[in-house]
Amino acid sequence: MSTPQKNTIRTFAQRKERGERLVLVTAYDYPTARLADGAGVDAILVGDTLGMVVLGYDTTIPVTVEEMLHHVKAVARARPRALIIADLPFLSYQANDDDGVRNAGRMLKEGGAGAVKVEGGERVVPLVRRLVSAGIPVMGHIGMTPQSVNQFGSFRVQGRARGDAGRLLEEARLLADAGCFAIVIEMAPAELAARITETVSVPTIGIGAGPDCDGEIQVMHDLLGLFDRFVPRHTRQYAVLSEIASEALQQYVADVRAGRFPTEANTFHECDLADPGDWDPLLQRAAETLRAQS
Ligand code: KIV
Repeated sequence: MSTPQKNTIRTFAQRKERGERLVLVTAYDYPTARLADGAGVDAILVGDTLGMVVLGYDTTIPVTVEEMLHHVKAVARARPRALIIADLPFLSYQANDDDGVRNAGRMLKEGGAGAVKVEGGERVVPLVRRLVSAGIPVMGHIGMTPQSVNQFGSFRVQGRARGDAGRLLEEARLLADAGCFAIVIEMAPAELAARITETVSVPTIGIGAGPDCDGEIQVMHDLLGLFDRFVPRHTRQYAVLSEIASEALQQYVADVRAGRFPTEANTFHECDLADPGDWDPLLQRAAETLRAQS
């Protein structure tokens, strides 16, 4: 039986050509990567949202390169068919492009990702060019870019104010020209996202950008109801796993306290405590040493 071909950035280009929608989701570890891949997503983003939904930070700002790598490696160990895209976290590429190239390279070389994502428009264009010429595929990210939350003042829709729509359209064009293989549009008016989608040659991936992008991305913990601090308007909870997990854990606590768990079915028997001859030779020697010392 032949193994299914892994998705690459070529898959993205082909899907746009054929008008077939792309589906992306975030995952941050081995089990969630296996779940996402098993469900048939085209790509897994190891997003820096992991700072909020897994590590408990208030924003994505504190996330470090080492934290990202730790999670990218865990996702890569699931050997998904889906393309693995690693987010470059805040301050891993903003200070200078050399940092950006080195940190992006680590995501591929040490982490096992197949591509990276950077936030921003015109500002990141020279970096995107350098990454692409170094053989590192890049996904762009415009609109509400969470690493700039302090600049925006809050997590709010971008591209509404006069002049902003044109700026976002121009940013998308620049990123596509610089070689991005796809562009995430986060929290922007649907009409603008649709215009960007028909204008640029590479796939647009929406999150809070309406139904007309070439694909969609969502944060897994939002889709599964595992993040209970807030539910963004742009998501849909397909399950509320936090409730199921909480009930299961309460049941466990009650069962142990009441002596209902563990039962005979969870218990091992058959050992002869009285006969030291059955012991592991190492344990025997340790016991003899202790006896000699006492
Ligand atoms: O970090 C992330 O999960 C993201 C997506 C929301 C696009 O950037």
